[in-house]
Amino acid sequence: MDADDERLTTPDTMQHYSRPWYSTKTARATLVVGLVVLLVVILAGPRPKVKSELMDDELPAGEGKAAARGAAVAADSASGGGGGGGTAAASASGGTAEVGFYGESLCPDCQHMVRDVLQPLFDNGVAKLMGLTYYAFGNVKNTSDGGFAYQHGPAEGKYNRHILCAQHFHPKQDDWFPYVKCLADKMHSLDRYADKCASDLGWEAADVSACSEGDKGKELEQEAAAATWALRPQKNFVPWIVVNGVAIGADFENLERYVCAVAPAASRPTACYELPPGLAYQGRRRS
Ligand SMILES: *[C@@H]1O[C@H](CO)[C@@H](O)[C@H](O)[C@H]1NC(C)=O
Repeated sequence: MDADDERLTTPDTMQHYSRPWYSTKTARATLVVGLVVLLVVILAGPRPKVKSELMDDELPAGEGKAAARGAAVAADSASGGGGGGGTAAASASGGTAEVGFYGESLCPDCQHMVRDVLQPLFDNGVAKLMGLTYYAFGNVKNTSDGGFAYQHGPAEGKYNRHILCAQHFHPKQDDWFPYVKCLADKMHSLDRYADKCASDLGWEAADVSACSEGDKGKELEQEAAAATWALRPQKNFVPWIVVNGVAIGADFENLERYVCAVAPAASRPTACYELPPGLAYQGRRRS
């Protein structure tokens, strides 16, 4: 005979069952304690990981950030996930918006993106909410001999690789972005100023050019190419901006809004709460 049977046949127990189960002091106390414990567990429990498929600290040692991103993109497109670029989630910089910038060293609109859209985010603190990767490749065509034809000629390939090498050697965006900004400022005289852009930051300029002209530069370029070709949807212009795997197309000027929107409220700088003048409602357009 097990305990249940015994209980059913014991008059005392039957009497107990005839009253509501919560009628005893002990039951009520247990219920209150249980609820409090449940509440504490819910509040103190681990936050769900929403963004990460591939955290940087899970990457194989010795692999560069761009390489890791490229791999994440490749894996993503292989699994049909699409998106490209934005899927590697939390960056070395710790932001919650993974921003993929697909562009070119010599394209005027990319120069504009760097100077007038991205630089202000570094100035107003919004950049700390994002992990930026610059896939410097862009509108490159395959040539019949297996090489690349660059939109703005061979110099573009060279300075694309400078940008990729800079990110390879100085993976923190606070470190490499000023270099990219300097290249954008000197876009029309890079042969004269690219080395100075590096040395002004205390870098060994020869390291960057040796990487750019050598095997490492080629390897990084192939990764940027793979990431670019894996974009879903494919880009149809540059600068092409992808936030957490989602292309924002012609809205690239408003990158700040997207970055602020996905950031936890507590981490937002005040700039997130100021509407850029261009976004104030102007009334309905007549057409
Ligand atoms: C260049 O060739 C690669 C394959 O080697 C292909 O995946 C890619 O789509 C091609 N790119 C263009 C722009 O045609």
